[in-house]
Amino acid sequence: MLLPEGVIIDGTTGAVTPETRHYTKRLSELRGLFQDDHAFAEAMDRGDAVVYEVAEYRKENSDIFFGTTTMYPGKVGKEYYFTRGHFHQRRDMGEVYYAQSGAGILLLESRDGRAEAVEMRPGVCAFIPPDWAHRTVNVGDDKFVFVWVCNPQAGHDYADIQRKGMRLAVIEQGGRPAVVDNSKYLSS
Ligand code: F6R
Ligand code: ZN
Repeated sequence: MLLPEGVIIDGTTGAVTPETRHYTKRLSELRGLFQDDHAFAEAMDRGDAVVYEVAEYRKENSDIFFGTTTMYPGKVGKEYYFTRGHFHQRRDMGEVYYAQSGAGILLLESRDGRAEAVEMRPGVCAFIPPDWAHRTVNVGDDKFVFVWVCNPQAGHDYADIQRKGMRLAVIEQGGRPAVVDNSKYLSS
């Protein structure tokens, strides 16, 4: 029988206690996704920086699991750090993202290419409908931390976004984040 449990989430550090899994994504694992390949090579010359960490709380046989994503601040050229971005393997399963600290933008894209951006300031709880790809961007100077909740059966499908990119990108313009068209996006 599954038993209830209070899980402590630190909204500033993203620490999940107890946690059942933790992984780190570095810049090298985002190769090819940023708009400016030259700026990417320059950033890599400075070291393979940590871009984000994910902490999970998952119980076997449960229909929900949750955790945090903690994004570090940084840019490749003018483009802010982002997560790889994915559709779910299960097209009938969406997700919830709840912003805790820092400043982020959630980029979303439907299967037929409709694109949306949601500002993720602390307190914003974003509804990610089934079959919308999602990528988060840290647009602040501090860590951007959010809680996510979804069905463990949802799975990740990274291939589409890896190949096509996302329609929208977030770059610094005049010292502020601006949502623009991604120059590298392939429409098919
Ligand atoms: C799970 C989910 C998040 C992301 C995490 C890292 O469905 O959306 O837990 O997995 O923010 O982003 P990706 O998986 O795109 O590297
Ligand atoms: Zn997801």
